[in-house]
Amino acid sequence: MRVTIDELKEMKSRGEKVTMLTAYDYGIAKLVDETGIPLILVGDSLGMVMLGYESTIPVTMNEMIHHTKAVARGARHALVVGDMPFMSYHVTVDDALRNAARFIQEGGAQAVKLEGGETVAEKVKRLVECGIPVMGHIGLTPQSIHQLGGFKVQGKTLEAGQRLLKDARALEEAGAFAVVLESVPAQLSSLITARSAIPTIGIGAGAGCDGQVQVISDLLGIYTDFVPRHAKQYARLAETIKQAVGEYMGEVKSGAFPTSKQSYSIEEGVVTELARTS
Ligand code: KIV
Repeated sequence: MRVTIDELKEMKSRGEKVTMLTAYDYGIAKLVDETGIPLILVGDSLGMVMLGYESTIPVTMNEMIHHTKAVARGARHALVVGDMPFMSYHVTVDDALRNAARFIQEGGAQAVKLEGGETVAEKVKRLVECGIPVMGHIGLTPQSIHQLGGFKVQGKTLEAGQRLLKDARALEEAGAFAVVLESVPAQLSSLITARSAIPTIGIGAGAGCDGQVQVISDLLGIYTDFVPRHAKQYARLAETIKQAVGEYMGEVKSGAFPTSKQSYSIEEGVVTELARTS
């Protein structure tokens, strides 16, 4: 049975931590899903870690749908959240609705995520009215890095903290089922969490959130261009991958690969006949 948004809210009331992880393709989504994780995010971070862009800003709807489809095919248990890319929900409510619907109808996701608080509340409300579960995302919102002046911790002053509290409330009132808090001081995240009826999912937001999210490429140690302070590498697959590729190259050069184990054969008689007649 697939995880539902009600189950996530129940987890918060029981004080059970919620884990979310990104995935961008079928194979990884299947492995992640088999662990029993409740939430998989097809994050627009794929622009950086899968597509090599410098930020998430160039990511398009078609790229997001392409990856969401692959993840949805691999995830049978987790609730799959599709991340709405830059400018796919900013212009009009109709735009937001049409693009969110693509994630559900074409992509096979069960929910969408969008960045912003009060400013996107009207759109969140409309999506929820139309039956599309929405996860909010406040604090450091990477689609606004140019406005924010870079990847900086948010909510450090009294005013900024008050704004984040208001944003979290606006999202909850609009019907969001959860909210991501990114790069927010731990004390402020705990305050937002205590005041919210919906689960808060932190990334660089301390241990007081109802749950945590990590980018899988950081967690597995595959993406090495930039490792944020809030990321923890539970594996160092970059080294494993390089070692495996190096070994493969060495064996091809030396003739140690392939052996008869990795080869196919036909009967000797057929070979002889082929050589004689062709
Ligand atoms: O795109 C993403 O991976 C995200 C997470 C960092 C929350 O938005």
